[in-house]
Amino acid sequence: MRGLVGIAVAAVATFVTGTLARPLIVNPGTADDIVITEHNTINSTSKIQAQGANPLEVDVVNNFGSNQMYLYITGTDSNGVACLLGPDGNFFYPNAGGSAIPVPIQGDYKISLGGVGSTTKVTLPDFLISSRIWVAEGELQFFTLINGDGKTVIVEPSVSNPSDPSASIKWGFVEFNWNNGEIYANITYVDWVGISMGMALTLGAGQTQVVKGLKGGAVQHICNDLNSQNSRDSAGWDKLCMTNGNGEALRVLSPNLRIAGDPTWQAEYYNGYIDKVWSKPTPAT
Ligand SMILES: *[C@@H]1O[C@H](CO)[C@@H](O)[C@H](O)[C@H]1NC(C)=O
Ligand SMILES: *[C@@H]1O[C@H](CO)[C@@H](O)[C@H](O)[C@H]1NC(C)=O
Repeated sequence: MRGLVGIAVAAVATFVTGTLARPLIVNPGTADDIVITEHNTINSTSKIQAQGANPLEVDVVNNFGSNQMYLYITGTDSNGVACLLGPDGNFFYPNAGGSAIPVPIQGDYKISLGGVGSTTKVTLPDFLISSRIWVAEGELQFFTLINGDGKTVIVEPSVSNPSDPSASIKWGFVEFNWNNGEIYANITYVDWVGISMGMALTLGAGQTQVVKGLKGGAVQHICNDLNSQNSRDSAGWDKLCMTNGNGEALRVLSPNLRIAGDPTWQAEYYNGYIDKVWSKPTPAT
């Protein structure tokens, strides 16, 4: 089966800073500031995962803005090797040169998107799983290393690390597995939101499934709502909003991702409630 994934990218409006709001301001660092977790790595395995060619066409519609946008596709191929899609339509294999610490991936693995209103078409040559389609306003930085088993690891931009080298770029991704003609894909709005993305899947028979995703400007609205909630209870909701130095909203984290980066955040949030619950079953005297 030949599938087609269409992705639409909507505008993110400028963030309006509230008087009490103290967002998490990003400060992009270098390779030394990278935090490696299971959420921002793709590890090669030694397992052969599939055989045979199965192309997948991906159409990306740019509804975002006038700055140059780039597309990146990451995943593991049918031999279990971590790779990206190159602009020539072939898989691109990073070379860490034996480094055990993250080094920038050398070579051409970014795909330029056309301007506002245009559709950019790329075709995945074959099977790719643990995959992400990244769309960014500007260039993202991917790194690579060789792990203890001698396998290539791709280190991706991190959504939750404010010092990640790509932290000041607006980006979003869609996750998918393209496995011998079967596709699983989602817009992953469980852990965070960045650039608003919607998705349509067209099957060979012409049936289409659509996931609309968030509206353009949603990141700003979510930040505004978090700020007003914070002005009511001062519980730190404003810290879920990540902005650049100009106060522009870049992305919003879910509480679980925020806690992963700062275990003290809302650590006492439920204390009052727990005390109330404990006060109920007072033993009879
Ligand atoms: C990949 O391997 C690194 C260690 O090299 C580990 O920290 C990370 O969690 C692994 N990623 C995944 C997705 O399993
Ligand atoms: C999204 O899809 C990917 C690929 O199938 C899967 O690994 C991931 O768990 C899914 N994420 C969510 C939030 O459902």
